Amino acid sequence: MYLTSNISQLMTEKIKINSKVFIGGWVRNKRHSKLGISFINLYDGSCINDIQIIANNKLNNYKKEILNITSGCSLTVKGILKYSPKNLQKYEIHALKIKVIGWVYNPGKYPISPKKHSLKYLREVSHLRSRTKIISCITRIKHNIALYIHNFLNKKNFFWVNTPLITTLDTEGSGKMFRVSTLDLSNIKYKKNKNIFKKDFFGKEAFLTVSGQLNLETYACSMSKVYTFGPTFRAENSNTKRHLAEFWMLEIEIAFSNLEYIINFIEKMLKSIFKYFLNFHESEISFLSQREDNNLFNKINKILLNKFNIIEYNEVINILTKCKENFSHLITWGEDLLIEHEKYLTNKYFKNIVIIYNYPKNIKAFYMYLNNDKKTVASIDVLFPDIGEIIGGSQRESRINILDERLEELKLNKNNYWWYRDLRKYGTIPHSGFGLGFERLISYITGIYNIRDIIPFPRTPYNAKF
Ligand code: 4AD
Ligand code: MG
Repeated sequence: MYLTSNISQLMTEKIKINSKVFIGGWVRNKRHSKLGISFINLYDGSCINDIQIIANNKLNNYKKEILNITSGCSLTVKGILKYSPKNLQKYEIHALKIKVIGWVYNPGKYPISPKKHSLKYLREVSHLRSRTKIISCITRIKHNIALYIHNFLNKKNFFWVNTPLITTLDTEGSGKMFRVSTLDLSNIKYKKNKNIFKKDFFGKEAFLTVSGQLNLETYACSMSKVYTFGPTFRAENSNTKRHLAEFWMLEIEIAFSNLEYIINFIEKMLKSIFKYFLNFHESEISFLSQREDNNLFNKINKILLNKFNIIEYNEVINILTKCKENFSHLITWGEDLLIEHEKYLTNKYFKNIVIIYNYPKNIKAFYMYLNNDKKTVASIDVLFPDIGEIIGGSQRESRINILDERLEELKLNKNNYWWYRDLRKYGTIPHSGFGLGFERLISYITGIYNIRDIIPFPRTPYNAKF
């Protein structure tokens, strides 16, 4: 069975009017008129639009099948492409033959009716939710933005490097990693043996990676401009709208660059992504504006029109301690910002994106470049209104003696980092990079502020249902 086209092709005038088409899809809804004509709205996920199929009672299965079609049935349709007399949709198909491929058992219990469902309800039926306009819309946007990023980086001479998902190092030093093991953990014998991991698959403890950065740095120190884009895992017990146990991260690493360079790079890259989104997603923006966030266009346009606010951590602490806001926690120098502080800065104080740089070394990872004050590191967090942190990055510590001091300070075993330290021994260079949380970015772009609606099958504490 080969379909001649999908709905997106029909809608973009790639197929001539009055030509014969053959499409397949699922019924969104249907209406039967007393005059012996049925109007069936069919979707196939290829674009935001459904296409209307006009079926009349001359079709040989009209009475027996077409009148019994319900939402969710799958069909193939042979017909003629026509202009639609009503303005809602440009085209419709006048059916010559309709074949019901799959019926819906017990239509009254079909979980996806044509009415608007809440996103919370849809999470309960994640295996069926991509049948809704909203979830398929998010999925297409994600696809397009990911491709755009690959192209953007390719044009700038970056190479895509596939860093491993299984690792033995805790890049961020938070200790929140999922163990990878083939040992039988229910076996008491193993539990009592301290050296059990010598018998494990890799002969040592292994985990799912929290970041591909350390491995990516090895390629930046040979191929100059590289990135990795894939899943990362964090066993944080954070049940928020911004946290997933499995999420996708874009990580970029640039040789011979410092913090200032990547701050400029990030602003250019994000603005380029937003510009692409505004220019090429008109129908998605109009749909999302109606359904979720009527300020979507202005929100993103405002980012394009203004320079990002770039501010040092010291200055941020001044702002936060002097302001009259009623925070649940009064922040002092040396502490990390909580979401309430981030939201105050982005939503109220600057009313836009904020890049904070030079955080205290004690709240950041071992690999960040130590500044001359010996108290702060050349690091950044990029904060977005409503969401908070979308990007974290830094200049990397490229001086072996200082890197070693930091590892010792943090009581990390230098031997475990031998290959990472080698990069600093053999032709070291200044280099910098950052990681962007892909779902958080798409959450901002779509105005859908629960990250569980952005990833198809969310993994969160006590939740890996589908
Ligand atoms: O700030 P993070 O922890 O930075 C790193 O992992 C660096 N190694 C990146 C680098 O320099 N190459 O994480 C980067 C971004 C965050 O800013 C956030 O957007 C996202 O990853 N992120 C999460 N997204 C969803 N769920 C979680 N649990 C996340 N944790 C981090
Ligand atoms: Mg961070």
